Parts: sequence; structure tokens; C-alpha cells
Amino acid sequence: MSRLVPAKEMLDKALKGKYAIGHFNINNLEWTKAVLTEAQELNTAVILGVSEGAGKYMCGFNTVAAMVNTMMETLDITVPVALHLDHGSYEGCLKCIEAGFSSIMFDGSHLPIDENIEKTKELVKLAHDHGMSIEAEVGAIGGEEDGIVGAGECADPEECARIASLGVDFLAAGIGNIHGVYPPEWKGLSFETLAAVKEKIGDLPLVLHGGTGIPTDQIKKAISLGVSKINVNTECQLAFAAATRKYIEAGKDKEGKGFDPRKLLKPGTEAIMETVKEKCEIFGSIGSAK
Ligand code: 13P
Repeated sequence: MSRLVPAKEMLDKALKGKYAIGHFNINNLEWTKAVLTEAQELNTAVILGVSEGAGKYMCGFNTVAAMVNTMMETLDITVPVALHLDHGSYEGCLKCIEAGFSSIMFDGSHLPIDENIEKTKELVKLAHDHGMSIEAEVGAIGGEEDGIVGAGECADPEECARIASLGVDFLAAGIGNIHGVYPPEWKGLSFETLAAVKEKIGDLPLVLHGGTGIPTDQIKKAISLGVSKINVNTECQLAFAAATRKYIEAGKDKEGKGFDPRKLLKPGTEAIMETVKEKCEIFGSIGSAK
């Protein structure tokens, strides 16, 4: 039996409590173990994000769902966990519904709005029929994610209202945010857009993508304006890479059995846990999984 839960309830609760739930992208077994263990330690609900590319890398969505469910049982993870498709295509969403994910994101932001609406509407029905939550996107998030490059648009609040009215459970609206490391000339989040979107959509939780490197004061302001889910990917990757580099550059892989992957991947895994902790502190979700 699946231990996964849809993300709707945890995000509605976060919106009311004025904090945000972390969505952390996973890439392999160590990543998954790190995020689950840390979420349990911090007593916070968590969302495991899986991009289509990461799903392929981990041998398909069925493998991912089986791994996460079994790992939760073995590690006795009792905090709410949602397994969520990140930036899904229409076909990817169908696959994750079949595979037993508990949440999907349909990213139709690159489509003409009418087509985005039509496909989102269809997927809302399918997801809800399967007891899953669904996120939609308006206004492409900039930067590169799995080869898809967006320009960092600001969403049109009217279009957000149209997508929100389709019954999606939470909405990603572009507010000048981009995936990956922010360039020095980045102008920051558009709180004007965020406030205008919020006014149109009422009590629907908003999602902030590109959580890596957004200054803490901007994160906190975004949460105060209705953001309840914050996506983080690159920051965990950078932390993992830096810790692994440090281990190897210190020659630790050449000491005794330091080349054993269980030792070699440990500093990186711990660095992911540390990043999850830092982020959840800023998001205000620690201790919220009562
Ligand atoms: P970052 O890689 O910038 O943290 O963004 C993650 C994200 O938004 C995943 O959807």
C-alpha cells in the first residue's frame, strides 16, 4: 500500500500557517534517502520532485515510486511525503498517474493559453479521479531545466485566474524567477506580479520555482504573499558536488577503503541533508508535521 499523500492538504495548511513546504528534486537513491531522513528529523512534510529526465535516469517512474514507497517503509518515515512529477509533459503526467505518484505538475506554460487550459482541464480530472494533486504553470520559469530553456517571464494575472478556475490544487506563476544559479544582473522577484496574481486567485497556494539562491528576505516576502511550495534542485546538486570534491581532493578515496561508494558518497549525502535543513528553516516548515 502506498504511503504517499497528495500535496494539497500540506500546502493548504502551509498557506494558512504562513510557511512553505520544500519541494526537493531527487536524482538517485542517496538523494531520496537524504531528503526523506532529514524531513523526518525536522518533522516537516516534504515534496519529492522528479523531473522527466531524472525519472528516465532512475529507470522510469515505476522504479522511482517503488523505491520511495519501500524506503519510507524501511526508514519508518511518518511525516507526509508527496511524490510529484516536476515540469511534466501531458504524456509524462499520464505515466506518473499509472506509476502511483501522488502528485503531478503539468507544465503547459510554453503552449498557447487555450491549449494550456484544455490540457490542464483534462489532467485535473484524471489526477483527482486518482486521488492525486495537480500543479499547473503560467508564465515560463527562466533558465534551463532538463534542456528546456525559459526566459523568466512574469505571468499574466488574468491567465492565472483562468487556469486557477480549472480546479488545480496549486499554481506556479512566473514572477521573474529562473532555474539554476541567478546571474549577477538578476533583478529579483517581481512582488508586484505576485501580489496581482494572488489577488486574482484567492486561497490557492502558489509555487515558487527556482528556489536556489533567492535571498532569504525575498523568500520570506514571497511566503507572506501566498507562496506555499518552494522548489529547490540546483542548491542540493552544488552542495553534493562540493562535498564530494572536497573528499576526493583531500585524498580520502585513497585512504583504506575510502573508494567504497558507501564512503565516497557519504559527504555529499550529508551535504544534501544540511541544505534541506537550511532551506526548511528559512521556509518555516520545521515542526509543522504534527
Ligand atoms: P533550482 O534548480 O533553481 O533550485 O530550481 C528548482 C526547480 O524549480 C524545480 O522545478
